[in-house]
Amino acid sequence: MTKETSTGSAPADEPGQPPKLTTSALAEQAPAKSVAQLITPFEVSGGVDESGKLLPVDYEKLTREFGATPITPQLLERFERVTGKKPHRFMRRGIVFSHRDLEKILDRYEKGEPFYLYTGRGPSSDSMHVGHAIPFEFTKYLQNTFDCPLVIQLTDDEKFMHSKKLKLEDVKRFALDNAKDIIAIGFDPAKTFMFNDTGGIMGTAFFDNVISMAKRITANQIFGTFGFNGGNNVGEIFFCAVQSATSFATSFPHIFGDNPTKVRTIPCLIPCAIDQDPYFRQCRENAAQMKYQKPSLIHSVFLPALQGPGSKMSASIDASAIFLTDTPNQIKNKINRFAFSGGQDTAEKQRELGGDTTVDVPFQYLTFFLEDDEELARIKNAYESGEMMTGEIKQICIRYLQEYVAGFQERRKAVTEEVRQEYFAFKPLAYKGNPNPVKKDAADDKKEGEKEKASQGHTKKMSVGRAKPEN
Ligand code: TRP
Repeated sequence: MTKETSTGSAPADEPGQPPKLTTSALAEQAPAKSVAQLITPFEVSGGVDESGKLLPVDYEKLTREFGATPITPQLLERFERVTGKKPHRFMRRGIVFSHRDLEKILDRYEKGEPFYLYTGRGPSSDSMHVGHAIPFEFTKYLQNTFDCPLVIQLTDDEKFMHSKKLKLEDVKRFALDNAKDIIAIGFDPAKTFMFNDTGGIMGTAFFDNVISMAKRITANQIFGTFGFNGGNNVGEIFFCAVQSATSFATSFPHIFGDNPTKVRTIPCLIPCAIDQDPYFRQCRENAAQMKYQKPSLIHSVFLPALQGPGSKMSASIDASAIFLTDTPNQIKNKINRFAFSGGQDTAEKQRELGGDTTVDVPFQYLTFFLEDDEELARIKNAYESGEMMTGEIKQICIRYLQEYVAGFQERRKAVTEEVRQEYFAFKPLAYKGNPNPVKKDAADDKKEGEKEKASQGHTKKMSVGRAKPEN
């Protein structure tokens, strides 16, 4: 899948231009090769320029290529108007930057119609880092904002089928261990259902949806969407159906009931890092044939690796990441030793020229972890104008990360095996949705400019009957 543009394809001679370079002249300039950015669920790289320099991920380009929609200030305004909540700092700062059909979810929230949140994690190791926490932090905010059910899928089967070295027992253990870390982020057990794919969900209504989806996906579609080929194992090819089935409310009769006509109309909103988009593009393509709603999505960027914004933190490279288990000292040492700096080499030059916040990793981390917009703007100005030194911005970053990780570790202590099981139980969830929905008709009128609000609460009815996909 890697696209390479080598200078070997130099343009032909043109009037007024220097003569075309010969192949041997080009060979002497090696490694004059650029590598395009590559973002898939399995690999993230911002690419490399002709001089071999790592490039930051170009998220605008990615949004265009994926065919997603940028989040505009107008959409954020509507979000705030409809929910009555200030958009999360990730939304305000472009960390959550694109979406698919988010308006559809806001329409439903406005009218008090049900929907749910769905997110997940592939448990590839037992050490989660702060980058993994980002989509979950955002999901927590959305759950609090919408007061709606949340389903969290742990794809231990995915990590098993995609890895040469991981054993089934490893990924199962990682799944249950990661579940405790995710719980410690702070999800409400009354509104949250978690499961790992190998842990007993198969054989329920969920599996009906998995195979109904699998039946509709051709191997060629998977090759096109993920860049796979005949050399990939059939588990990898099949897995997309597993991740897709969680997008359908009919997979979870214990949450949504099993009235076939009603439950199939309930859509979900999927907060995820942008690399997961291919799964759901595929899912959206096939959802209608199953007479289900397409899932909506809201995408976030990656938390950059300590080495810079061209890659993301990796659990297998200790020096690239701040782990949720790191001590305050480890955090301090990692930031001081490894964090890529956009500052100048000497204090004198820094005072004169200032630092580059677009590549400075400590500043980038502050955009994720520092809530106060004014404080962030003050730091940005001071650093860019040369008033603030590299050492100082690192100190500030260390403080906020230490605070975040310490808070996590405190909550993590309370997550016992019993607590975990509460989240994994097939139990009904208790949620209220919009406390003040606009009446359906009024909501439609409102679109034509009328602003009347109705004060009727909404009730959830569960009725019987078995919801089946169009299989
Ligand atoms: N495939 C994801 C991973 O490897 C896990 C996942 C499953 C997920 N469902 C999801 C992530 C929904 C985000 C949203 O991490």
